[in-house]
Amino acid sequence: MTRKTPVAVMISGRGSNMAALIEACEAPDFPAEIVLVLSNRYEAKGLKTAADAGIATEVIDYRGKGSRKAFEDAATAAIEAAGAELICLAGFMRLLTPHFVEHWRDRLINIHPSLLPAFPGLDTHERAIQTGVRISGCTVHFVRAEMDSGPIIVQAAVPVTAKDTARTLAARVLEQEHRIYPLAVALIASGKARRVGEQVIVDEDLSGLPPLVVPPTA
Ligand code: GRF
Repeated sequence: MTRKTPVAVMISGRGSNMAALIEACEAPDFPAEIVLVLSNRYEAKGLKTAADAGIATEVIDYRGKGSRKAFEDAATAAIEAAGAELICLAGFMRLLTPHFVEHWRDRLINIHPSLLPAFPGLDTHERAIQTGVRISGCTVHFVRAEMDSGPIIVQAAVPVTAKDTARTLAARVLEQEHRIYPLAVALIASGKARRVGEQVIVDEDLSGLPPLVVPPTA
């Protein structure tokens, strides 16, 4: 087995995407390993999940640090000390400054519960239902300074039914989030996802995947 890419996961809450990444990383042939779970909130439930899995956790409570820059400098120091080469935002609920985003450019990815560029920001499922879209989904993307923007790595789509509430749609989308985040991390860690300009090209035949998972292939 070749070297595994060391990954830091940043969370603020429940951490179900983080848990999906932890589970994926347990496979011996998975090309990444989680070296740190970092939270900006002591109350984040995912911290216990990570600790129970034997993963190092750290909390940098922004509220005690005075400024956004102080938080981000402390976060960068912790992530670099852990040796992480890729950061996965997984329900991390603080806006990151352009300084942090640039420092980690192309090494910082996020998952968002919509088919970006549709519905960036909060309350995605409510807005998707109100807009009347028939298809929604989720996106893993490289992070750029503008919120919920950046080169798209993988997306998955799900149907929106007439009976859906934000809660039922969120659950359907979350199931796909848990599939595509590990997929995106594996593609990056194995060097199979290349950023070309502001697009990501995947050098792997993914035609075996269910049809609604649609990363671009070379
Ligand atoms: C997910 O829906 C993710 O797409 C969004 O925040 C939510 C986090 O959920 N960015 P969890 O903490 O991973 O369970």
